[in-house]
Formats: sequence, structure tokens, C-alpha cells
Amino acid sequence: MFANYQEALNDYAYALSVKIPPGIRVFNKIADFRSWRRQLLLDRQTLGYVPTMGALHQGHLALVTAAKQQCDHVALTIFVNPAQFAPNEDLASYPRTLQSDLDQLAALGPHVASAVLVPQVQEMYPTGIELDVSKQKGAFVEVKGLSHQLEGITRPHFFRGVATVVTKFLNIVQPEHVYFGQKDIQQCFVIRRMLQDLHVPVQMHICPTIREEDGLAMSSRNTYLSPTQRTHALCLSKALQTMEKMYRDGVRHAPTLISAAKDVIETTQRQVETLGQDWQVKLDYVNVNSPHDLSEIRDEITDGAIMSLAVFVGKTRLIDNIVVDVSLDS
Ligand code: PAF
Repeated sequence: MFANYQEALNDYAYALSVKIPPGIRVFNKIADFRSWRRQLLLDRQTLGYVPTMGALHQGHLALVTAAKQQCDHVALTIFVNPAQFAPNEDLASYPRTLQSDLDQLAALGPHVASAVLVPQVQEMYPTGIELDVSKQKGAFVEVKGLSHQLEGITRPHFFRGVATVVTKFLNIVQPEHVYFGQKDIQQCFVIRRMLQDLHVPVQMHICPTIREEDGLAMSSRNTYLSPTQRTHALCLSKALQTMEKMYRDGVRHAPTLISAAKDVIETTQRQVETLGQDWQVKLDYVNVNSPHDLSEIRDEITDGAIMSLAVFVGKTRLIDNIVVDVSLDS
């Protein structure tokens, strides 16, 4: 019944084996987390929440820091959510670095991250969870109209998995504020619509993408890249920088911007071919979309835009985006 049953047990054993830094509460059981949260309510303390799948990097830590600036306490969840992985994707190999995650949170200073919930798969999905959507049972959340384009083309069930797990976690954590990174811009749109449509009483914040010094957007999946792939992964941010510069210089024709971004990716593809590598750089998509409903802009940009792309660098699929003339404030 449980496609990931063994994996679920491993996750749990793993969570229990870490050394918990002083000052951070780590919960494995939802009921224990809820008791802690209830006490905050009684004490009239506000809670900011950062949902994560672990493998924390500066991008996650920036969300925690932003949350701490607005809330008395900050809680994170660390949960590699099976429902957002397709059977052919990297659920098994997704980096699980709980000890380092907790150490990084502790290094932010005392009383920044108050609590971390690391639940078991069985508890999060009491009816079980199959990666094959046709075999799934139980309750799932879908956000129609925003989930099928862009990422949804290559990953048709991804946002259903994300919306479902975020709904579950918001029911468990019950924060006043929740924080997401702009790096996953479509995810932000899907969640924002879900919160509105389901009347979830939480204020959502979208924080800017955190980048390495050379421009590469921080991502847990960057750890899959070899040093040579890492160098060539810069084609994503370079393509976006090219589009942004052209836009700032007055170019508003979306196909022209897209074509310039494709040139950047193709140049990198040729470089990798010349090096005789046994992997390739492959463009999945580069798009210009409306910041209102994510519809594709096929002509002139008149009222801001989201420029986004996904590129395979070897087996690693990376995404990145910029927004122009758009405020992401909720
Ligand atoms: O952005 C992520 O890391 C995940 O999609 C999220 C929001 C934690 C849900 O699993």
C-alpha cells in the first residue's frame, strides 16, 4: 500500500538520530507540535512559519530571518513530501541533511528558529501515499488554472502535491504568517490562490530569491551539480539578466526577449558539447507570463511580467525567474 513505506520509516529513524542544538524544539509527532503551538496562543505569542523539504541553504535562512522580524516565534517543517514527486523523479535521492539543517538554524542565533516539526510520512498521509496519482486515495488539494502551465507541463501533479501538503501543514502549524521564496514563483501563485479560495487565515509573504555571488539562484538541488555543471548552470541567471536588461532598455516584445534568452542557453549548450562532456544542457522552457493569472504573454508586455525558465544541466532540472514591474506583496 505504501509506495514509500520503508523510506518513511527510514526518515523517522533518521530524524531521531540527530543531535538537537540547544534552543530549538524538534518535534516528530504532530500532537506534540500542536501542544507547543497551543501554549504560544495562550501566551499571546505570534508564530511565523517556513515550510521546507530540508537541505536548507541561505534562501531558507533568509525566510526564517524575515519571519523572525515579524513574529515572536518561527517554526519550520522539514518534510520531503512524496506527493509532489512523480515516480520518475528524485524522491529517493533528494538531499536529507537534518543535522546540518538544525545546525544552520542554531547558527542564526538564539531564539530565531524556535521549533522544527519533522513528521513521518505515515502521519502526514494517514491514508497512505502512492507516487502514481491514479492509485492515490484520500484527500488532495488542487488549484485549477495556475497549476498546468510552466512547471505543470513537465510536472503535471507537482502543484497538487504542494498544495495538499501546505494545506495539511497550515492546519497543523496554524501560523499568523507564512513565508515562501520567489525562486519558486509559480508555487507562490498557487499557494496564494489556495489561501484566498479556501479562506485560510494566514498572511503570506513572498521573499526575494537569494543568489550565489555569481548569480546562481540558491536551490537544494544545486548539490547535485558537478563543479563543471555548476559553472554551466549560470546560463539560467545569465539568460534572465539578458531579458531584464533588454526590458529595461525598452524591449517589450515577449518573443524577442525569449529568443535572446534561448541564445544564451544555446551558447552554453555548444560550450558543453565542445568540452565533450557525457551530459548536456537542455532547455525545458523559457516563458514570459502575466503576473496576474500566469497566462502566456505572446506579444507586447503592457502590465509587468514574470520571466521564467527551466533548464536541465545533466540530470538536474533547475528553475529560475525574475519579475518586472510587478509587486509580489500579498
Ligand atoms: O518549496 C518547497 O520546498 C516545497 O514545495 C514545500 C513548499 C515545502 C512543500 O513541500
